[in-house]
Amino acid sequence: KLIVAASCALALAAGTVQAKDWREIRIAFDVPYEPFEYKDENGELTGFEVELAEAMCAEMKADCEFVIQSWDGMIPGLLARKFDAIMSSMSITPERAERVLFSEPYYNTPGGWFAPEAFNTDVTDMDAMKDKVVGVQRGTTMDTFVTENMGGIVTIKRYTTADDMVLDLEGQRLDVVFVDYPVGEQTVLSKDGFKEVGEPVKLGEGVGVAMRQRDKDLAAKVNATLKKLKKDGTYDTIMQKYFNY
Ligand code: ARG
Repeated sequence: KLIVAASCALALAAGTVQAKDWREIRIAFDVPYEPFEYKDENGELTGFEVELAEAMCAEMKADCEFVIQSWDGMIPGLLARKFDAIMSSMSITPERAERVLFSEPYYNTPGGWFAPEAFNTDVTDMDAMKDKVVGVQRGTTMDTFVTENMGGIVTIKRYTTADDMVLDLEGQRLDVVFVDYPVGEQTVLSKDGFKEVGEPVKLGEGVGVAMRQRDKDLAAKVNATLKKLKKDGTYDTIMQKYFNY
């Protein structure tokens, strides 16, 4: 009898999970990745995606918990149910779409090249780029691009966090970094002695919220909410606060 009761309880519990109403949503960010997600001078989590997430949660009347997760554990953490959604400037690519469910894109960011003023090499000239040291964040679309197009030509240095990469650029341990354009603009170009080089490269089909494939109901909610926030001007207001264009 006990066993029957226990399995009933389990079945009930499973039923509850199935009928999740998404009153609580856990969202993951890789920090710092300014201006998308970073901590301000008071240690408060802020940024374009953090404010967008706050607006979305308010609109969905959901109680949201923000989780800090390093980039390399993003998709594994989502699949392991450590959180329910990723909002970390994650570009929509066919490879990722096999593992996660993306919302409609809410932003578009190419990869940009940033280097010290003295750097005068054409980043598209593979003879000239030979043996140059290029920094990327590990597991990003920039990593994939450099690996596929410059592997065996340049020396690729892969970083767990974007800020360690920028520190190495400042410390002259890198010749050039390849990073989401607004991040380079706000964390590299904001310092003296650096410039943008070459042309930005389009990577992925915009940036979206990544969710588990089975959570189609959550994705539908997120898409409807994004649409609403774009229409009522909330999205534009947040956007203008974090991007200079
Ligand atoms: N947009 C790039 C990608 O999808 C890099 C994103 C890295 N995001 C972060 N929060 N560190 O691969």
